[in-house]
Amino acid sequence: MTDYSTFLSVTGRQLTESAIRRMGTVVARPGDMVSFAPGYPDSSLFPWHELQEISKHLLDGHDAGALQYGPTRGYAPLLESALEVMERRGIKASADQIIVTSGSQQGIDLIARVLVSPGEVVLVELPTFTGAIAAFKNMQADLVGVRQEADGISLDHLDEMWQKVTAAGKRVKLLYLVPNFQNPTGSLLSLAKRRRLLEWAERRDVLLVEDDPYGLLYFDDVATEAETRPMRADDPNGRVLYLNTVSKMLAPGFRVGWMLAPEMLIERFDTAKQSTDLTSGILDQHIVYEALRSGVAERLAPQLRSLYRHKRDVMEEELRARLGSRLTWHSPKGGFFVWATLTGGRTDAQLLECALQHGVIFVIGSAFHVDGSGHDTIRLSFSAPSAERIREGVARLAKAFE
Ligand SMILES: Cc1ncc(COP(=O)(O)O)c(C=O)c1O
Repeated sequence: MTDYSTFLSVTGRQLTESAIRRMGTVVARPGDMVSFAPGYPDSSLFPWHELQEISKHLLDGHDAGALQYGPTRGYAPLLESALEVMERRGIKASADQIIVTSGSQQGIDLIARVLVSPGEVVLVELPTFTGAIAAFKNMQADLVGVRQEADGISLDHLDEMWQKVTAAGKRVKLLYLVPNFQNPTGSLLSLAKRRRLLEWAERRDVLLVEDDPYGLLYFDDVATEAETRPMRADDPNGRVLYLNTVSKMLAPGFRVGWMLAPEMLIERFDTAKQSTDLTSGILDQHIVYEALRSGVAERLAPQLRSLYRHKRDVMEEELRARLGSRLTWHSPKGGFFVWATLTGGRTDAQLLECALQHGVIFVIGSAFHVDGSGHDTIRLSFSAPSAERIREGVARLAKAFE
């Protein structure tokens, strides 16, 4: 028998799996499991008809470019459309400051590979997105967590951690954060903190990685679009690397996102991407371009907001009715997640074990913490299941507690 582990490189040996991906394999099991685990969009709003028309046209052979290799930087008309989308959110950027990525996950990965050397410090929120943890860990970054408050990251704790790391002779290069309806907590970073963070980044010579997949999914009973204004829109000193994606607003099956960064860094990301995938799927890019150009994505946005708002309401109603004494949480103002704290002393892993037996799954909160904490927290995603399945899932969760 060949021992393949002896073939693994140092990097290959220490690769970190995303906790949510691992959950995905459980969800993929046949059976009647209700899944509150992955943050999948609701497929009932995928614009099938429009996409079919766009694809039919693209695949009629009139433009070989739709199936040909394309530039690593991205399909030029898509880049232009992406810049227009960004401009509607207050962001001014030029064509040499943008690169198409295979989802924003690839953007995070490129940032990690191009900017982080082993042992260098990346600050992340406590808790933070598992895909980012995996990408930075794979580059052997030293991940240091910063506490959150109700209105996003704690600026006091942030500077405290920066000082601690710096005093230990290490360099803090990046702060990765998800300001809008964070994954996993759903929290929204206040506008005042956004301004202060930009000042802080300049003062402490740190780059901010602003990952923004959920910014347009605000629930208009409690939040406005103005409150989700990207930090990149008010960034005179070029401190922000901004990531966006069509995954939550159109469909994640298109592996299409983009990153904005200063021109010098975009060139480095371009070079790193060349050896990864040459180019993001070119047919995907053409379809997404047509969907943006013809307004499909824009028309969809209000429907997505109202659908997810309704699902949040259903989940919260059920949680209040069945689990109000066992869980506490802040009502999310947008996005896909309810982030809950267990009040009875049970751990996230113990609850998950019981939940699986009762046919419901979620992600354990500790998976999102880089400091080993969070065992009294869980992430419940309400985006994918129907309202009826959400009710069923919470009923099962209540049984799991018993
Ligand atoms: C905060 C965050 N960043 C990035 C991603 C990855 O998105 P994409 O499909 O664009 O790679 C997700 C997906 O859940 C996410 O929640």
